[in-house]
Amino acid sequence: MLTNQKENFSLDPQITYLNGAYMSPQLNVVEEVGIAALKRKSQPYAIKQDDFFTDTLRLKKAFANLIVARPLDCSIIPSVSYGMATVAKNLPLSPTKNQIIVVGEQFPSNVYAWLGLEKEGKAKVHIVSPPQDRNPETWNAEVLAAITDQTAMVAIGHIHWADGTLFDLKKIRAKSREHQAWMVIDGTQSVGALPFSVKEFEPEALICAGYKWLMGSYGLGMAYFHPSLHEGKPLEENWINRQDSEDFSGLVQYRESYQPGAGRYDMGEKSNFILVPMLARAIEQILEWGVENIQDYCVRINAKAKTDLRDAGYQLIADQYTTGHLWSVRFEDATQMQAVANQLKEANIFVSFRGLAARVAPHVYNDEADLEKLTSILLGSK
Ligand SMILES: Cc1ncc(COP(=O)(O)O)c(C=O)c1O
Repeated sequence: MLTNQKENFSLDPQITYLNGAYMSPQLNVVEEVGIAALKRKSQPYAIKQDDFFTDTLRLKKAFANLIVARPLDCSIIPSVSYGMATVAKNLPLSPTKNQIIVVGEQFPSNVYAWLGLEKEGKAKVHIVSPPQDRNPETWNAEVLAAITDQTAMVAIGHIHWADGTLFDLKKIRAKSREHQAWMVIDGTQSVGALPFSVKEFEPEALICAGYKWLMGSYGLGMAYFHPSLHEGKPLEENWINRQDSEDFSGLVQYRESYQPGAGRYDMGEKSNFILVPMLARAIEQILEWGVENIQDYCVRINAKAKTDLRDAGYQLIADQYTTGHLWSVRFEDATQMQAVANQLKEANIFVSFRGLAARVAPHVYNDEADLEKLTSILLGSK
């Protein structure tokens, strides 16, 4: 069983940080890696040709391990919007198969690319809004019901980024496959804290920002692309994702072919000598802890807080339809929410407010006492 890991971070003890869904704090070891990496360029001659490829491979191996895939299927990307733009460039669309399904209030980096296709007349975006009572079972059923032969893709998260509603990817995969539609997942708010297996869910693509549950720096993310996409078009044409780019003396023997697998979708300057080793080290730490253990730890430290809040009449999503690392407390009105927000701010307790809910996002640097501080304010405002 995983125990509290606060000593591996340098969070201010005066602060209660329950906002990993906004941005993770940096692990001390990752900070050390980053500082050493930053200093490297002061002696550029120490950066060898091989270094353009070694840490990128190490990062892909770590990410592949995390999602039960092969490094060959993984790409290094700067942002979710970049990964989704790559998907948009390769998604097969026709006048009879052009529907793209998203859920209501989905994160914009997994919406604007599809609205762009709609503007070009190539796709129709179908938004499955949450039901009035936000019942997750109904919401999931409505997503499934929306999938038809017209559906080209379901582009969704494993959980909703704002309130933590869990989407049943196994069922969505089964139905989308039945209708020859793609399933593309934004894993930003889940991968690293909630188990995700490419083997189990078989998405066409999985796109993740790196600075939340993967615990890396801002500006670098990871993607997985199914082998069926490995002959597709990259978003940009850079030298390093062409075949044999390892041979610097032959770079101007321009060639048609790309690096194998999902290597063609790597961003330009993928070798980022600072951010790449930082993200690799962060994911290696997550692997060492184990994603299941992280999730289990979060569930354990939340348990009492959730019971107390429910007993006091707060509306929380049932545990089987949400997660331990990202869940939410719904308010009756904006006035009540603002009053709570003010008190939390005063007490240095950090959560995010999305819609009419407080999003609570703990991790291994939190403990039960942190959640107790949160609940004492919430209970006091009932
Ligand atoms: C679900 C989700 N996807 C993506 C992002 C970030 O997107 P991008 O990397 O395009 O800035 C966030 C940030 O909050 C998010 O919550």
